[in-house]
Amino acid sequence: MNAVATPSIIHARTTAVFTCILAALAGLMFGLDIGVISGATSFIQKEFQVSDHVIEWIVSAMMLGAAAGALGASWMSAMLGRKRSLILGATLFVAGSLLCGAAGSAQMLVIARFVLGLAIGIATFTAPLYLAEVAPEKTRGAMISLYQLMITIGILVAFLSDTAFSYNGNWRWMLGVIAIPGALFLLGLFFLPDSPRWLMMRGRTQQAKDVLNRLRGDEGLANRELADIAEQLSTPQRGWHLFQENANFRRSVGLGVLLQLMQQFTGMNVVMYYAPRIFENMGYDQHAQLWFTAIVGLTNVLATFIAIGLVDKLGRKPILYTGFAVMAVGLGVVGAMMHAGIASHAQQLFTVGMLLTFIVGFAMSAGPLIWTLCSEVQPLKGRDFGIGCSTFTNWIANMIVGATFLSLLNGIGNAATFWLYSGLNLIFIALTFWLVPETKGVTLEQIERNLMAGLPLRKIGTPPAASHASAPHRMDAHATAQESA
Ligand code: BGC
Repeated sequence: MNAVATPSIIHARTTAVFTCILAALAGLMFGLDIGVISGATSFIQKEFQVSDHVIEWIVSAMMLGAAAGALGASWMSAMLGRKRSLILGATLFVAGSLLCGAAGSAQMLVIARFVLGLAIGIATFTAPLYLAEVAPEKTRGAMISLYQLMITIGILVAFLSDTAFSYNGNWRWMLGVIAIPGALFLLGLFFLPDSPRWLMMRGRTQQAKDVLNRLRGDEGLANRELADIAEQLSTPQRGWHLFQENANFRRSVGLGVLLQLMQQFTGMNVVMYYAPRIFENMGYDQHAQLWFTAIVGLTNVLATFIAIGLVDKLGRKPILYTGFAVMAVGLGVVGAMMHAGIASHAQQLFTVGMLLTFIVGFAMSAGPLIWTLCSEVQPLKGRDFGIGCSTFTNWIANMIVGATFLSLLNGIGNAATFWLYSGLNLIFIALTFWLVPETKGVTLEQIERNLMAGLPLRKIGTPPAASHASAPHRMDAHATAQESA
């Protein structure tokens, strides 16, 4: 902490920061991918003359691909390594976006979006893993926050670029242009070092040591970290077996799955994918729809800072309660306005304001916090498996939300669709109360001990009676900003 910053340490810090920023760019790709489709759907629908149902498939094929990619990535990142997995992900990203831009039919577009999804599934599994493994202990949290923030920035950039291309109606450019940041990202990846933890897993200790020396610029520190990694690796990952034989582990896996279901069924991605359509239903013309969508993206970025600033002060549960309540009110009022009929300009703006309120509710709470919690509640031995299950659930639920929204609008109507999501957010307040633990300021070891002792899920974040006893825990893959060292 009080080491003199020698040139080698400064050089090492620069290398580490560069490495993390580059890996965090995977978050940007994730965001671009989520955001890019919303502005394009109306133009695609016009050109290919397809139904809402086909549009739902074009939107959702990406999430299906992502679910498959996330599944494959856990195997691939162990076999090929994190760096090569990221390279493969980025290559698929470039190929997928170019294919989207060139698609000659709706079917082709579905396939291209699936390829894009594979890319993102790989990146969303591998990038946080890699980040947690290369970031220095002290800045690891901040680096992972950066990743989360990058997702929202990616969504915003995609919304802005869609808006710009909407003036000539060129959906092919909207979908194809993201190949450019993808290609830059791909090039940058070749300069990344391999993850020291992965090198150790493959028995390449000397290489792991070299990488750590380069990243930390301090041999003593690098050796200590190497010893830490060796110790961690002595706890073998035995997720599936543990799942079969240990009821407490099944509870934590169930909790991770539930948390991601809650995140997705807030309805956030309904707005991410279909915002222009929602603004159309409020009576706005095409350009206004896209500009408001860009404002949605900006609100999402800015409100993420609220979560980053508050999570360690207020704790997870108060923020989740607030977020779900804000979302329930926001969507409830949007539904009511649609029910009553939006006639005047003031009513339009008020409804937009309520939709933005909903976005703030998500970005300040469930957006970042669910990922945090999912990484905190799994025991070390089953962490990869547990996080794999919850990430997979995230994408499957994401797909269901994306694949049903237009059908819901057409089936039960605008107001009822928003009320449905509003009601779900109310239920999530109750579920948070009953099932979600408060994990603020508790070590991951303590959470694991409580879980395995059979404490109810909502109590697994209880600090030990003789607090101070447990030393801060070294964070594992997918660890997050909010668990401070
Ligand atoms: C969610 C995504 C969502 C994004 C919006 C993430 O935490 O997992 O599904 O699109 O937040 O910012």
